[in-house]
Amino acid sequence: MSVLDAKNLSPRLLSFITALIIGTVNALMSLALRPDWYIPLIVFVITFVIIYYLYHYTLQRFIYRKIKLIYKFIYQTKATKKEEFFYETILPQKSIDEVSVDVARWANQKKDEIEMLRANEQFRKEFLSNLAHELRTPIFSIQGYVETLLGGALEDPSVNKKFLSNASRSVERLARLVDDLDEISKLESGRIPIIQETFVMHELVREVFEEMHLRAEEKNVTLEIKKGTERPISVTADKPKIRQVLTNLIENAIKYGPENATITAGIYEIDGQHVFTEISDEGPGIAEEHLPRIFERFYRADKSRNRSIGGTGLGLAIVKHIVEAHGQTVNVRSKLGVGSSFGFTLEKASAS
Ligand SMILES: Nc1ncnc2c1ncn2[C@@H]1O[C@H](COP(=O)(O)OP(=O)(O)OP(=O)(O)O)[C@@H](O)[C@H]1O
Ligand SMILES: [Mg+2]
Repeated sequence: MSVLDAKNLSPRLLSFITALIIGTVNALMSLALRPDWYIPLIVFVITFVIIYYLYHYTLQRFIYRKIKLIYKFIYQTKATKKEEFFYETILPQKSIDEVSVDVARWANQKKDEIEMLRANEQFRKEFLSNLAHELRTPIFSIQGYVETLLGGALEDPSVNKKFLSNASRSVERLARLVDDLDEISKLESGRIPIIQETFVMHELVREVFEEMHLRAEEKNVTLEIKKGTERPISVTADKPKIRQVLTNLIENAIKYGPENATITAGIYEIDGQHVFTEISDEGPGIAEEHLPRIFERFYRADKSRNRSIGGTGLGLAIVKHIVEAHGQTVNVRSKLGVGSSFGFTLEKASAS
């Protein structure tokens, strides 16, 4: 930075230069009047000292005091030792330019904060309206059946059982929705601790396959561990929660996939510290525009199609929460007409 770079002068330097210039001008003038060498020198020294201190004082008092107030305001801190040091030592060194950079940085930071709050607000509104919608569907259906039954259908043996069991299905759906929401809110607030244990990923995957085999058989779907990834690998994680993750992913793969398909679980060791588990299906795939939002609560890729299949759109949101509560990541790869792969990482158990 050049000394005369007029934009970057600290108050001290500014006072110095001003005093120097005025001092020199005065000295030259007095030299013109009195050609002795010492008079101009005395004039110079006196002018310099007076101008320097006066200028410096004025700057400090009328400008930097105000700036100090601005800093106090933007940092919103109480007077601490560190802050005193800042005001006494660092602030006077700052040029107005640096101050304006600080203020601009602060303004940007505030802008980001406001944008984040706005996004949260938007998210909250969407969440509430989604929730209302999700609750309304089964409640209306129950209401409809109950009213029809009370209106006389109860005595009609050809429909009464059917209507009751339809109503009961809606009650189940309602109960599931509330359970899922409860689970998500607990995960979000961090109220459910992650209880780590060491287990073999392959064994857990096989257990979940076993639990899902009835539903798989309904569609003649084969569940298998991907060839070449059968070597057992141990992970450290919360086993019941990872079971839930696998269940949600495999359930989706069966639910959205075609009949007679194969669903594979690939289990890979990556970088010596993590284990990557991926559930791949030969289903319809998910369009690229949906992929970034697929893990959001209530988000469904194909609204019309999935209403009939009847999920709540919370399964993947729960998956994401659980994986992230482990400090790990979840991802999805998918191509329309080819299939989808949902994968997540876990910490590899140190002794395996
Ligand atoms: N394997 C998959 N193949 C195709 N689409 C999928 C697959 N998995 C998820 N999706 C899409 O992602 C959406 C969100 O899935 P998610 O599991 O969160 O909700 P859901 O299955 O609709 O409901 P829930 O799991 O709560 O019963 C689904 O509605 C579906 O459109
Ligand atoms: Mg699901």
